[in-house]
Amino acid sequence: MGGLSGSSQGEVIARRFTERFGHAPVVVARAPGRVNLIGEHVDYNDGLVLPIALEQSTHVAAAPRSDGVARAVSLKLGREHTWSMSQWEPTSGAEWTAYVAGVTLLLAERGGAPRGFDLLIDSDVPVGGGLSSSAALELATTLALAHLAGLRLAPVELARLAHEAERRYAGVPCGIMDQYVGALARPGAALLLDCRSQTWDYVPLELAEHDLVVVDSGIRHALASGDYARRREECRAALTMIQQVDARVRSLREVTSQTLAAAASTMTPALAARARHVVGEIERVRSAAAALSRGELRRFGELLGASHASLRDDFMVSTPEIDRLVDIAGSVPGVLGARLTGGGFGGCVIVLVESSRVESLRAAICDQYDRAGLGPARLMSVRAAGAASIVFDVQGTEAA
Ligand code: GLA
Repeated sequence: MGGLSGSSQGEVIARRFTERFGHAPVVVARAPGRVNLIGEHVDYNDGLVLPIALEQSTHVAAAPRSDGVARAVSLKLGREHTWSMSQWEPTSGAEWTAYVAGVTLLLAERGGAPRGFDLLIDSDVPVGGGLSSSAALELATTLALAHLAGLRLAPVELARLAHEAERRYAGVPCGIMDQYVGALARPGAALLLDCRSQTWDYVPLELAEHDLVVVDSGIRHALASGDYARRREECRAALTMIQQVDARVRSLREVTSQTLAAAASTMTPALAARARHVVGEIERVRSAAAALSRGELRRFGELLGASHASLRDDFMVSTPEIDRLVDIAGSVPGVLGARLTGGGFGGCVIVLVESSRVESLRAAICDQYDRAGLGPARLMSVRAAGAASIVFDVQGTEAA
């Protein structure tokens, strides 16, 4: 395989593939994890979101087989699965082979699946941490297998196929944010995605002397477990009540605070609170995008804090551990804001902090979270990375 240089993750996974299967891969694809800066639980309410793609990513190496057999290995989980392409029965649940097989079935529907394949997965995106490890796996697998079958997908087609795989085969009724940012992101920018029109813009992420730190609480969640679906259901129920007051409203995106106030008395306090979060959060995304583009980091930090309070008190997807991390971060001088990111019920917190204070943040978390027996929490400073891509193929053409 010519054209490979250095010790890139792509080269490492290609070598592992050869060791495992006894022949070289034909293609290696990469797809990023993501962190959502703001706009939580609004993508499935037609709202606006502002995520970035991460350098932390999933690599998938693949080669075709002509015997109708699929073999997939996850290096991280140390597991191998083999199945016949004609016999895989989709089962609901988040078992990782469901993502691979699901993507294959969807590609086959579009006339673009290989007849069989060997596939190896490696990833440094924490699983179940709210950083979209599953979207990264779907996107990288889709790119690699489509490439084997000679199918070239435009970024939006890639995002839609990966999203469908998650819903149909992993059984998670998620919104479009994770797959879209993984397919469309640009280095150095956040993606301002309008989930109603499915159009987007890029907002430069210029943090001057600040770091964006992701703190992994170590608390794991499974979105397929039901809490996520329950929140979606509650949003739908709140919308139905609001439509009694204003029949023109088609989604929570279209609800104004005045309409919400008028409808609130017809709902349970819990449903009113869920709707209040969504309506307020969409407004916060608008303000946050404006603040970022004007370089108003203090304002941006305040909006992170307001988003967290709303997720904690109104949408109720936080946990005591996550709240603790946000509180600890808030007590460190030089922190501009912190909040839960991702679907919730555990996972990660993001913190905007002066770069010179990152070590104080680390020390405070170690002292007050880890030593209190809640951790260990893991901190990583993150940057806005690029979208999913083919890292290289058999011709040795290393993609940009
Ligand atoms: C998960 C889902 C996304 C989104 C977030 C919450 O990550 O996959 O579609 O709903 O939760 O903002």
